[in-house]
Amino acid sequence: MPAYSWLFEVKEYAYPGDVIINVPDQYRQGITGKIIASKEALELVAYLKSFKQIKLPDGKPTPIFLYGKEIKTEPTGTTSKLNTELDGAALYAVNCQSCHQENGEGLKGAFPPLKGSPVVLDKNPKVQLTIIMKGYNGRASEGYGIMPAVGTNNNLKPEEILAIINHERSSWGNNSRKITLLELKELYNQVKTGPIAK
Ligand code: HEC
Repeated sequence: MPAYSWLFEVKEYAYPGDVIINVPDQYRQGITGKIIASKEALELVAYLKSFKQIKLPDGKPTPIFLYGKEIKTEPTGTTSKLNTELDGAALYAVNCQSCHQENGEGLKGAFPPLKGSPVVLDKNPKVQLTIIMKGYNGRASEGYGIMPAVGTNNNLKPEEILAIINHERSSWGNNSRKITLLELKELYNQVKTGPIAK
């Protein structure tokens, strides 16, 4: 595989938000500065990380990356709160973190922060849900890329989306109202047939 050196910049100093690549000395070809990933390199990595492992031949089990996906099912006829207990942080890690980062601050010039995002803090979660289900391109003029329809592509169930939404609403200093499963399910059906978020 050839080196894609044009996807990286060399700077004397890194600026806040720069992603520094630690290249071992034997591959630096005499470069002495900091090697910084370009926006294109970061977007490419995020895109590659969004691919899912396909089924392996010969009945081999699919290896589990990061966290296995596990849905707790309720016995019918009960109204237990099991479903709201799915681990929002783990689901966020698998589905969102490669772009928006663990600290919710995104990556400058590529992925917007969810920390302090008006969409996430909005009392009404409809736009937040629509973005997860249908993707988003409303902020292209600010230099952000296109967000794919992560929820639909990853086949996320309402219970999983609820856990992610409430994780976003209550993390990194965000302190917005939590959404109930009943409320989310109602919106989920509206959003499925409605337009993408503007
Ligand atoms: C492949 C990268 C990628 C992944 C994965 C991703 N997003 Fe995004 N997200 C983006 C980009 C890019 C934007 C900005 C799109 C635009 O408007 O141009 C965005 C925008 C958003 C916004 C709007 C923020 C604002 O203030 O405008 C929210 C909310 C959001 N994403 C939530 C999520 C959640 C929740 C997940 C996981 C279920 C997720 N995203 C997964 C790339 C991603």
